[in-house]
Amino acid sequence: MTSTHDFIRADDVLSGKLSDAQTVYLEKKYGHGKLIRLLEVVGTGGPFKVKSPWELEDRAGQTVINASGYAALPFGDNPPELNLFLRQVLEQTDQVMFGQQSITTWRAALETNLVRLLARESGDHHDSRVFFSNSGTEAVEAAIKFAQAARPKAKYLINFTRAYHGKTLGALAVTPNPNLQGPFKNILNPAVITLPYGDAEAVERAIKRVGDQVIAVLLEPILGEAGVRIPPPGFLKRVGEVCRTKGVIVIADEIQTGLGRSGHWFESVAQGLIPDILTLAKPLGGGMLPVGATIVRHEIYKPLLGSVETIKRHSNTFGGNSLAMAVGLKSLEILLDNDYPARSRRLGERGLTRLKAVQRQHPALIEEVRGAGMLFAMNFHPVAKLPFKLQGELIAEVTGMLALVAFYRSGVLLNFSLNAARTMRLTPAMNMPEELFDRMFDDVEAAAAEHPSSFALVQKYGTPELLSLVKAAFLED
Ligand SMILES: Cc1ncc(COP(=O)(O)O)c(C=O)c1O
Repeated sequence: MTSTHDFIRADDVLSGKLSDAQTVYLEKKYGHGKLIRLLEVVGTGGPFKVKSPWELEDRAGQTVINASGYAALPFGDNPPELNLFLRQVLEQTDQVMFGQQSITTWRAALETNLVRLLARESGDHHDSRVFFSNSGTEAVEAAIKFAQAARPKAKYLINFTRAYHGKTLGALAVTPNPNLQGPFKNILNPAVITLPYGDAEAVERAIKRVGDQVIAVLLEPILGEAGVRIPPPGFLKRVGEVCRTKGVIVIADEIQTGLGRSGHWFESVAQGLIPDILTLAKPLGGGMLPVGATIVRHEIYKPLLGSVETIKRHSNTFGGNSLAMAVGLKSLEILLDNDYPARSRRLGERGLTRLKAVQRQHPALIEEVRGAGMLFAMNFHPVAKLPFKLQGELIAEVTGMLALVAFYRSGVLLNFSLNAARTMRLTPAMNMPEELFDRMFDDVEAAAAEHPSSFALVQKYGTPELLSLVKAAFLED
C-alpha cells in the first residue's frame, strides 16, 4: 500500500503484507471507528492470531482463552475439521454455489437434517419446512412474517421484557431495549405487547383478553443477551399450553440457546414447549459462515410461501447458498457425532459450580452468576453508585468494559451482553479440551482475586488508562 488512492490487493492480505498497525488504522478510518478505538484503548481487540481453536494471541504476544464467541463458535475459531472440509468442498469446481433459483444437494441435505433433528427431539415437526437466511435477525424476520401470514386477522405480537431478537426493524420491534430502539421507534411495528419474562399468569391473562388478535408469542427459552436469565420451571410449558387454546403461534428463538449451547439440542423442547416456529443461526455456521434457519410447521409455512400468488413474498438472494449449506451440514454432523449438547450440559455444571464458588469468595465484585450448559454469566456490581438513571447506565457500561479488561489481563476474553451492560458472559467452544476449560476457570478465579471489589476494577486499571478510555468514549469519532 503506497498512497491513499491505492487499492489493497487480496494477495497482499493473503500473504500477510498488511501489518497489524495498518489494519488498526484502516479499521478506524473506514470502518466502525468508535468501537475499534475503544477496543484499542482497552487493548482487548487484537488483531489476533488463532493459536488454537480456543486460544488467541494478541499483538503484545499475550495468549488468552477465547470465551467470547457470542455462542457462535461451537468448535472454536477456525476449527481444523471444518477448515479441511471447506477446502474439500471448494475442490469440487463444477458445483453450483449460488442456488437461489436452482435445486442444490447441500441445501436439500441440510433442510432434511434440521427437520429430522427437530422431529426426533420433539416427536413432532416431521412435516415442517426450513427457510434459510444469512443471520439470526433475518431468521426472526422470516418467523414473524410466516406467523402474520398464517394469522392474517391478528395484529399483536407478544414478547418479553429484556428479550433480544436482533436489530433489523422487525426483530428490533420485538427487542424492547429503549437504547437500541431509540430513534427508530416510529418506524417499528407498534402492535407489540411486552410481558414480564417468566410470568406465565401474565401470558394467560393476555391470551384470555386478546388471544384471538395475537399473531404469535415470541420468546427466548433462556434470555441470552439479558445475561443468561433462566425462566421459572414450568413457564415455557405453560406458555405453549395457553397459546394452543387460541391457536396463537409460538416462536422459539433458539439462535443463542439452540444446538447444544444451553445443554440441550433445543432448550424450549427440553422444557416441555414444542414451538410452531423455531429460529436458529449462530452455531449452525460453525463459526465460519453466516447461516440462519427458520423451521416452520407446514400449515404455517403455506400461507406465506405455499401458493403461486404469494411465493415471492419472502426471499433473500444468498440464503441457502451452497458454501453456507455445506458448512451448516458439517457443523450439525460434528455436533451430532460428538453429542456436544450432552458435553455442554456436563461441563456446564462443572463450570457453574466453579463460578458460584468465585462469587461466594468475592461478593463485593460479583453480584450474581448464572449458567445453563456452556452459557455462563457474571453480574458485576457497579464500579460506583450514582443517583441518576442516565449516569447509572454509563457506570454500567464502564463496569462491563473494566471487567473485560481485568479478566483479559488474567487470560480470558469475555463477551459483553447487549441487554445487560454489567453482565459479562463466557461462551466457550463446546469442544474445548477439559484441561483448558478448567484453566479458564482458574484464570477467572485469579482475575477475581486480583479485584476483590468492583471499585478495584477502577483502581487497578490505572488513572492514565482511565483518562484515555474516557477520551475515546466521549471525543468525536
Ligand atoms: C436470541 C437471539 N436472537 C437473535 C439474535 C440476532 O442474531 P444475529 O446477530 O445473527 O442477527 C441474537 C444475537 O445475539 C440472539 O441472541
